[in-house]
Amino acid sequence: MVKICCIGAGYVGGPTMAVIALKCPKIEVAVVDISVSRIAAWNGDQLPIYEPGLEDVVKQCRGRNLFFSTDIENHVAEADIVFVSVNTPTKTQGLGAGKAADLTYWESAARMIADVSKSNKIVVEKSTVPVKTAEAIEKILTHNSREIKYQILSNPEFLAEGTAIQDLFNPDRVLIGGRETPEGQKAIQALKDVYAHWVPEDRIITTNLWSAELSKLAANAFLAQRISSVNAMSALCEATGADVTQVSHAIGKDTRIGPRFLNSSVGFGGSCFQKDILNLVYICECNGLTEVANYWKQVIKVNDYQKNRFVNRIVSSMFNTVSGKKIAILGFAFKKDTGDTRETPAIDVCKGLLGDKAKLSIYDPQVTEDQIQRDLSMKKFDWDHPIHLQPMSPPASKQVNVVWDAYQAAKDAHGVCILTEWDEFKTLDYQKIFDNMRKPAYIFDGRNILDVAKLREIGFIVYSIGKPLDPWHKDTLAVA
Ligand code: UDX
Ligand code: ADP
Repeated sequence: MVKICCIGAGYVGGPTMAVIALKCPKIEVAVVDISVSRIAAWNGDQLPIYEPGLEDVVKQCRGRNLFFSTDIENHVAEADIVFVSVNTPTKTQGLGAGKAADLTYWESAARMIADVSKSNKIVVEKSTVPVKTAEAIEKILTHNSREIKYQILSNPEFLAEGTAIQDLFNPDRVLIGGRETPEGQKAIQALKDVYAHWVPEDRIITTNLWSAELSKLAANAFLAQRISSVNAMSALCEATGADVTQVSHAIGKDTRIGPRFLNSSVGFGGSCFQKDILNLVYICECNGLTEVANYWKQVIKVNDYQKNRFVNRIVSSMFNTVSGKKIAILGFAFKKDTGDTRETPAIDVCKGLLGDKAKLSIYDPQVTEDQIQRDLSMKKFDWDHPIHLQPMSPPASKQVNVVWDAYQAAKDAHGVCILTEWDEFKTLDYQKIFDNMRKPAYIFDGRNILDVAKLREIGFIVYSIGKPLDPWHKDTLAVA
């Protein structure tokens, strides 16, 4: 029986291994982690991450051929294939601070593999890492063990949160990079055989190691670039009276452009886009490619601009101050159908409003109060460390109130901001919300999910990203 061990039971490791276990009943899959609480949650009724369909998959295989454990060393020692899916935070100090990936957790996982292994192993990079990480890992492994042979593969994960199970069941492609030696090719084939249990052969692409590593950074940079492009257009639409939704629809009909990933928003978030682009920028700079680095940097700058613009719209439309005013924040996760808040635009928007002394009442169907308070007090990039190493929960801020109902959040508020496109926000009773708000009552739709005409009919002053402006907003100056 082939044995797989995955180090890191997070958003990538957990769902990916659960699907491998489901689709390959003859393979034993162990997911291990240093976080005791995370492993306990994977073994309990309340899984540590919210992902539609995940619970069903886990329940089918847990205890059969899927195991979650903190006994890292034993499971690694027994495995034929070891996936590594640990944190890769952005460095906050030293060389490459603010851009380069901190490979501390990767390195310690590699050293541990070298220490405990008694048989040859295939080691698979699953977390996104800078190009040439595999080479570094290879060196650590070979310099620390004499008899044992390792083959390193890069097998980047392309799943998106909220649709992870669907993406894993039916991936656009599976990418496997490896050495071009006979041993390297044999290792690629072994991993290919795992995916071939359910992925059609023509969707399994094999490349050299560096191409696979770079493809992951490139894919995320291209996707993020589309959002920054459409968000840049949204600012121009507001200035000219065009409607960004109509523009997106029109350009998306061009089959060369395609309709997906063209929704203008308050900005992209998530654990990957910003981090991977910063990594790409750093690699370009290290290779003396300043123009290329600056090109990709701009994608992040436009994203920051979009978040700032949103805050400025709110403040300027409320007579240039939100001091002491209650603002309801509907949605805190970085997208719908996840409880994940890593790099969510809500953090920057909330911090911007708090900076102007607003009082926030926040509601998100999947994010806990503790998480929100932590996010609003944490320093940039601190989120990307194992849970037990993250800063402790701060005392609750008096300016921030987290509630469990959208109506309660909006009660007596001056404004309502939609920051995540949760379906339930589309069907709220906005008349009821309006009746219970201070007047003038504002709505700022950061996800373009609401019916602007209907809201204006009710009496709201409405701002929706990239849509023709309400006369009220035309008269107020929003300087980014
Ligand atoms: C992304 C990639 O899609 C995935 O392939 C990779 O493995 C990890 O990074 P994820 O971050 O989970 O996945 O979510 P994604 O759906 O890509 O959304 C990222 C951000 O972009 C979200 O904040 C989302 O709201 C925003 N977005 C997405 C837009 O603002 N507009 C769009 O049209 C699409
Ligand atoms: P991703 O979104 O890439 O899956 P996460 O932060 O959700 O990232 O998951 C990474 C996991 O890796 C965390 O649960 C963390 O505790 C775990 N981890 C980090 N370093 C190690 C290590 N050396 N050994 C085992 N697990 C580790």
